[in-house]
Amino acid sequence: MLTSRAAQPLPVAARVNRFSYAIRNIVAEARAVEARGMRVRYLNIGDPVAFGFQTPPHLIEAATRAMRDGHNGYLPSAGIPAAREAVAADATARGMAVSADRVLMTTGTSEGIDLALNALVDEGDEVLVPMPTYPLYTAVLATINARPRYYRTDPSRDWLPDLDHLRTLVTPRTRVLVTIDPNNPTGAVYPASVRRSLIEFAERHNLTILADEVYAELGFDGPVPLLATLDPDAPIISLSSLSKAYLAPGWRTGWLVVGATPRLDHALAAMKKLADGRLCSPGPMQYAVAAAVTGDRSHQATFRRALAARARVTTEALNAIPGMRCVAPRAAFYAMPALTLPPGRTDEEYVLGLLRATGILCVYGSGFGMPADQGTFRIVFLADPAELASIYADIAAFTRDYLEHAG
Ligand SMILES: Cc1ncc(COP(=O)(O)O)c(C=O)c1O
Repeated sequence: MLTSRAAQPLPVAARVNRFSYAIRNIVAEARAVEARGMRVRYLNIGDPVAFGFQTPPHLIEAATRAMRDGHNGYLPSAGIPAAREAVAADATARGMAVSADRVLMTTGTSEGIDLALNALVDEGDEVLVPMPTYPLYTAVLATINARPRYYRTDPSRDWLPDLDHLRTLVTPRTRVLVTIDPNNPTGAVYPASVRRSLIEFAERHNLTILADEVYAELGFDGPVPLLATLDPDAPIISLSSLSKAYLAPGWRTGWLVVGATPRLDHALAAMKKLADGRLCSPGPMQYAVAAAVTGDRSHQATFRRALAARARVTTEALNAIPGMRCVAPRAAFYAMPALTLPPGRTDEEYVLGLLRATGILCVYGSGFGMPADQGTFRIVFLADPAELASIYADIAAFTRDYLEHAG
C-alpha cells in the first residue's frame, strides 16, 4: 500500500469555497453547544412541521395512495400531466393565465431556482438579488460563476426595494431580476406600485424576472396576488412549492410557471432540457399536487391566523429591547430585527454569543447578504407564542448584557 494514501486529501472544486448557505452552516455551532449539555432552540430553519403544524391529511392520502397504486417509477421530467394541469389552472385562476405545458414540476422551489438560473445565466453574467436575500440564489450563482448584484431593501420603509439603488446596478451583463415577495427573511409584502415599477424596470432592460412566490398564500391579510397578474405579458417565471403553504417541506415538491409571453419560450425549452438530465422530481408526491391546489385549503386560513399572532408577539417583544428595532412582518414566518452594534462588532459575533449563552439559534444577517456591522439577524417565529415569549425574554437579557460588555 502506498504510504501517502491516508495523508493526502483528494482535491475538491474551488467553487465550493464560494458556496455558502448560512441557514444550515450555522447548525455545526449549535451541535457544539448541545454537546456541552445545553438545549438548543432552533429558530434557524423555516420548517412549520418541525413546530407542530401538520401536513393536511388529504395530501398525505393522495401521496400514499399513489405509492400503493404503484406510481413508484420514473415520471416525465417535466412532471405528471395532472399536476401540471392543476398548477396551470390554479395560476390562471389567480390571474397568471398559462397552459400546462408552461409548468415544470421541480424538487422544491430550490430546484426551480437552480434550473432557472442555470438556464438563464452564463459565467460572468449578473443577477439582481434583493439584500437581504434568500441565500440559495447567491449560492447557485457561485456555482455558475455568475455575479450577484444586491439591490437594497430598506428597513425604514418596511423593507421595500430601493428602486433608485436598483437602477444604478444594471450593466450590459445583467440577465435576471430576482424578486422574493412575500419576502424571506424580512416578511415584507410589496405594494402593487412597487411591483409595477419592478416589472417596468425589468422590461426596460430586457431582464427575466424570477418571482419567488413560495409564501404567496401566507400573507396575514390573505393570499398575496402573483406578480404576473399585473402584466400577463411580462417575462416572469413564478416559483413555488408544497413546502410552506401546504406544510410539506420534506416532500421536495415544487413547480415553476413560465409566463405566457413567447419571449420566454427559449427559457422554457432550456429549463426542460436541463430537467431531462435529472430524470424527474419526486414521484408519488406529484400525485398530491392536484389535491393541494384544487382541494380544501382551510388549513391556510388557520395557519395565517397563527402566523399573524406570532408576528405580533415577535414585533412587540423585540421592539421593547433597548437598541433593537424590528419591522413588523406582513407574511410568512420570519422577522429580521436589527441591533445597533458597538463599533467593530458583527452580526455573526452577536448571534454566536446568543447561541452560546442561551441556546437560541438564529441566523446572522450577513448570511443573507447584509453588511455585518448592521446587526441584523433572522428569527423564525413558528414556535408557539408562550415559547416565543420565553425566547424573547432570554434574547432581551442576553442583549442587555452584550451591549453592556461589548461597547
Ligand atoms: C424565499 C424562499 N425560496 C425558496 C425556498 C426553498 O423552498 P423549497 O422547500 O420549496 O425548496 C425557501 C425556503 O425557505 C424560501 O424561503
